[in-house]
Amino acid sequence: MDVLEAIKMRRSIRNFTGEILSEELVYSIIESGRLAPSAGNRQPSRFVVVWDREKIREIAKASMRFLSKAGVVIIGAADPKSSPKWYPVDLAIAFDHMVLTAQAQGLGTCWIGAFNEEEIKKILGMPKEVNIVAMLGIGYPKMIPNPTSRKKMEEIAFRDEWNNPYTQHK
Ligand SMILES: Cc1cc2nc3c(=O)[nH]c(=O)nc-3n(C[C@H](O)[C@H](O)[C@H](O)COP(=O)(O)O)c2cc1C
Repeated sequence: MDVLEAIKMRRSIRNFTGEILSEELVYSIIESGRLAPSAGNRQPSRFVVVWDREKIREIAKASMRFLSKAGVVIIGAADPKSSPKWYPVDLAIAFDHMVLTAQAQGLGTCWIGAFNEEEIKKILGMPKEVNIVAMLGIGYPKMIPNPTSRKKMEEIAFRDEWNNPYTQHK
């Protein structure tokens, strides 16, 4: 699957089969995050990859219940001091690499921004100086939803100057 196809096929998956994932697959996903670019190559992102079923259940209680069926949950965190301006951007790029790598291998993902940070940090023994930026649930999709809508190209992209809508045939 090439990158554009993976981008087009991706959906947020909130219904996982509960099937166990292979170590190799998960390693390839986190490897794609490790290789992501970062501002000044400072590499502030840290990833806690949670396999433990009991911990996943606790994480689901502190965020989104559907995560309890994920194969793994990845917690994306950084110490803001390591890259104060860019750490959330760097983390988001790494997560997007992971999302597309997972997609290309037949897995489904869902970004999670709604979570009780203090609870999650407690569950995983994370220090107070790191911020959790986002979490990612990964697993085999039980149900693949229809695509959600996107704004039209001419609403979001402009040619040469602000407010000159971008159209395909110019
Ligand atoms: C930064 C971010 C945070 C998100 N947080 C949540 C979340 O907490 N719970 C959830 O179910 N989906 C969450 N999503 C998924 C979005 O709702 C979803 O990407 C959006 O509705 C578009 O649907 P699609 O991913 O299927 O294309 C999040 C997505 C992003 C990018």
